[in-house]
Amino acid sequence: MLAPFEGFVAFLSLTVVLLVAVVVTGFTARLRAHLTLVACTVISLGVTIWYAEQLGKQYNLAAAGVIMPVHLALAKIATLSYLAPLASGFATLRNRGRKKLHLRLALTTVALTVLAAGTGAWMLAAAEPR
Ligand code: HEM
Repeated sequence: MLAPFEGFVAFLSLTVVLLVAVVVTGFTARLRAHLTLVACTVISLGVTIWYAEQLGKQYNLAAAGVIMPVHLALAKIATLSYLAPLASGFATLRNRGRKKLHLRLALTTVALTVLAAGTGAWMLAAAEPR
């Protein structure tokens, strides 16, 4: 097991790289790779969240001020938003006409993930180490 900071940075980076690979395999219609990478992304995101929780215990996050509730809300919304490309992805498998909707929802999830990561880094920078 890695230390919380190293583990968090490593798995956050891995999640972002996997997410880029999911988007690339989606655009190039390599379905088997697309679905395998989606599963890897969800697992990697889960590990990232676990490390983020361990890292959070080492800081007084309340000292970060208003960015803390903003980040926590965004992190929850970003995690929940993975259900949208999952559901629309299955719908696209059955009917390729749903591809445009799937693309919009997928890009929204990617944007929310980037926003959650950015506000999380901001929150940690503003928090006090315990
Ligand atoms: C985080 C999750 C996901 C992301 C970010 C994502 C992203 C994308 C993107 C960017 C495209 C290209 C759309 C276009 O060409 O306009 C695509 C296509 C596609 N995705 Fe996903 N996707 C995700 C999950 C899934 C899942 C879970 C499934 C199925 C269960 C799925 C099935 C498909 C299918 C069938 C296509 C169309 C491929 C084709 O052109 O034949 N995706 N996806």
